[in-house]
Amino acid sequence: MLPWRIAPNSDETPDPYRIWLAEVMLQQTTVAAVAGYFARFTERWPTVADLAAAADADVMAAWAGLGYYARARNLLACARAVVAQHGGRFPDSEAGLRALPGIGDYTAASVAAIAFGRAAVVIDANIERVIARHRLIDTPLPAAKRDIRAALAPIVPPDRPGDFAQALMDLGATICTPRGPACAICPIMADCRARASGDADRLPVKPPKKAKPHRHGIAHWIERDGRIWLVRRPGKGMLGGMRALPGGAWTDARPAESGIVHVDHGFTHFDLTLTLVRGDASTESLDAAAEGEWWSISDLDAAGLPTLYRKLVERMLERLE
Ligand code: ADE
Repeated sequence: MLPWRIAPNSDETPDPYRIWLAEVMLQQTTVAAVAGYFARFTERWPTVADLAAAADADVMAAWAGLGYYARARNLLACARAVVAQHGGRFPDSEAGLRALPGIGDYTAASVAAIAFGRAAVVIDANIERVIARHRLIDTPLPAAKRDIRAALAPIVPPDRPGDFAQALMDLGATICTPRGPACAICPIMADCRARASGDADRLPVKPPKKAKPHRHGIAHWIERDGRIWLVRRPGKGMLGGMRALPGGAWTDARPAESGIVHVDHGFTHFDLTLTLVRGDASTESLDAAAEGEWWSISDLDAAGLPTLYRKLVERMLERLE
């Protein structure tokens, strides 16, 4: 069973902290990717008060690799608000949750339903797909969201809204999959309109994909006595608050330097090619404004580098071997 869940009809009450943490981690991410992070976070910070008291740098490092780092900054802001404004107890309504920093419509609805049994209308990408198919909603997204909400709201069972939401999520993740849905074994095939008409595979209709811009950046490998110079990226913006190799802004222009190794990385709104060039200690002055430290190369795993920089460092270390 997923580690934040309790069994259906169990006498236990779900822990709102664990539910909230799981829901924030699961946005844009799969259950498989989240499992290890969830275990480490709850082991190290078992309550919202523990998390609220954590150092920013520790939480950012523990989040490294999960991506969408604004979520980690918001996670901390939210934990601190729960402690400062609510005595360490999460508000138990959708509106109360929505008022917390970093909690959007989805998280407010899912935590209200799963942790507090509120009949909130929970819609994530899996639920969206299941309902679009079941009701043959072929309006393209995002406009389809209104129809999906209208179809879902009247059928949320007031006695088990959390189980209902999670059952639909699981159906979407395992049977009603984006491609090649397993309609033949679906528990709700009998009245699924898309199954009847053979349209399941093409629903929901996605908006046309926008071409992503391609950007370029430089990272400096500045090494001295078995250590490299790492900086902390500014709090706002891409990979904000995360440790990184020093380097200038990312731009549309290909860098003049050919570099030693390259990494291509897809962000939500652009693709990036990062080029690693050797710098000497004076290159440090390029990032003089950034907070930095000499980090032991043998201990780089503990630096909490985001995936992009971790890949770059790994390729460089292969070169140095
Ligand atoms: N994705 C987002 N929330 C989830 C949950 N509670 N269970 C399974 N998958 C999820």
